[in-house]
Amino acid sequence: MNARYAIILAAGKGTRMKSKLYKVLHPVCGKPMVEHIINRVEETNPTEIVTIVGHGADKVQSQLGERSQYALQAEQLGTGHAVMQAAEFLKGKKGTTLVISGDTPLLTSETLDNLFEYHQGKGASATILTAHAENPTGYGRILRDHVGIVDRIVEQKDATPEEAQVKEINTGTYCFDNELLFDALENLNTDNAQGEYYLTDIIEILKADGKNVAAYQTEDFNESLGVNDRVALAEANRLMRERINHQHMLNGVSFIDPAATYIDAGVIIGAETVIEPGVYLKGKTVIGENCVITAQSQIVDSTIEDNVTIKTSVVEESVVRSGADVGPYAHLRPKAEIHENAHVGNFVEVKNAVVGEGTKVGHLSYVGDATLGKDINVGCGVVFVNYDGKKKHRTVVGDHSFIGSSVNIIAPVEIEANSCVAAGSTITDDIPEHALAIARARQVNKEDYAKKIPYMQ
Ligand code: UD1
Ligand code: MG
Repeated sequence: MNARYAIILAAGKGTRMKSKLYKVLHPVCGKPMVEHIINRVEETNPTEIVTIVGHGADKVQSQLGERSQYALQAEQLGTGHAVMQAAEFLKGKKGTTLVISGDTPLLTSETLDNLFEYHQGKGASATILTAHAENPTGYGRILRDHVGIVDRIVEQKDATPEEAQVKEINTGTYCFDNELLFDALENLNTDNAQGEYYLTDIIEILKADGKNVAAYQTEDFNESLGVNDRVALAEANRLMRERINHQHMLNGVSFIDPAATYIDAGVIIGAETVIEPGVYLKGKTVIGENCVITAQSQIVDSTIEDNVTIKTSVVEESVVRSGADVGPYAHLRPKAEIHENAHVGNFVEVKNAVVGEGTKVGHLSYVGDATLGKDINVGCGVVFVNYDGKKKHRTVVGDHSFIGSSVNIIAPVEIEANSCVAAGSTITDDIPEHALAIARARQVNKEDYAKKIPYMQ
C-alpha cells in the first residue's frame, strides 16, 4: 500500500473562543478536540503523524505525547503556512498525506478511510473532503465549474455574495499527493482578505499546473462541524453526546432521557444498566452490567462493578464492587473502595477508605482514612476523626464489629473483630476482640431539678 502520512493543524490561536485555554484543547465529551482527531487519524494507520503546534505548544505536546511528531509554527500565518512547517519531516517523501484540522472533532475514521479510497480511486493529486451545509456561514465554499469539476475553494471573507450562496463547504480535511503538496506550498501567497497563507489556495495552484483535483462529499454535515467559538463547541458536545449515547443504547444500556445524560467518550457501560437523567459519567469510568444510576449522579474516573445501585451521589476515583449500593446523597472521594454488597447510605462521605463486604454505613457518617472489614454495622453519625491538624491517621475496624451511633473514633486506633462500641463514645484507644467499649460520661439524673429551671416553669 501507498505510504500514508497525516498532518494535524493545531497551532491556531482560537481567538474566537475568547479563552485562555488553547482551542484544540477544549474538551468535547471529556476529551480535548485534538485527542479525538489523533484517535481517528491513528485508526487510518498512517506511518507518520506530524502535529503543527504554536501557542500553548507544550500543552498540546504533553496531551498527545509520543503519538505524534511536532513541528512548531512560531507565528500563525495561516493554514497553508502551518502545513509548510511539516516539511522537515515529510517533504520529498512518496505517499498520500491526510491534512486535518484540530478543530473538527466529529469526523469519523470511516469517513477518513472513504476519503483515502476516493482519492486513490480518482488518481487525484488532491481530494477535498466536503459536505453540504444548510447554513454554510463561516466555512470555505467549494466552487465547481459548469460540469461539476472542482475549481477552487473560496473563504467566507473573500467570497462574492454569489459565491457565498454555495452550500458545499470545505471541511478542512484533505488528501494530497505528498510530493506535490510540498512543491505547491512554495507558490502560496497572502493575497487575500485575511493576509494569510491559505491552504485552500493549493487547489488552484495544483489545477493551474494541470493536476487532477477531486472532492469527496460526506453525507453527514454534522461530522464536519468546525469549532471556532463556544456556540459551535456546545453543538459539537451535543452531537458527540448523541453519538455516544446512541452506541450505548445499541449495546443494551437504557436511558430515561438520552438528551439529558452526559457520558464522556471512552466510558464503558455494561448491558442492562439503567441511567437516569442528569447523570454525568466522566473520564476513565467503567460501569458494570445491571446497575442503576439514578438522577443527577456524577461518577468520575471510577469503577462500578455489576448489580450496583448509585442513587443521586458523587463518586470520584473510587471502586464500588458487585451488589453494593450507594446513596442517596453519598460522596465517595478518591480511593474509596466499597466492597461486595456493602451499603453506603444517606449523606455519608468516604475518603481513602475500604468499606468491607456486607458492611453498612447507613447515615450521616464520615469515613476517612479507615479500613473496615466485613459485616460491620456503623451507626448513624459516626465520625472517623482522621486529622490532628498536621497529619492524617488511619483506623482499622475488624469484621463483625458494631459501632453505635454518634461515635467519634480518634485515629490512629484499631478496633478488633467482633467488638462493640457504645453509642456516643469517643474512642481514643484500641479495642480488643469481643470487647464492649464505652467512652462517655455516666448519666446522672437529678430528681426534680427540672422544676428549678426558669424556662421549665
Ligand atoms: C478553515 C478553512 C475553511 C474550512 C474550515 C473548516 C482555510 C484557509 N480555511 O477555516 O475553508 O471551511 O477550516 O473548519 O484553511 N491553524 C494553524 N495555524 C494557523 C492557522 C490555523 O495551525 O496559522 C489551525 C487551527 O488551529 C485549526 C485549523 O488550522 O485547527 C483551522 O484553522 P481555523 O482558523 O479554525 O480555520 P477556519 O477559519 O475554520
Ligand atoms: Mg476552524
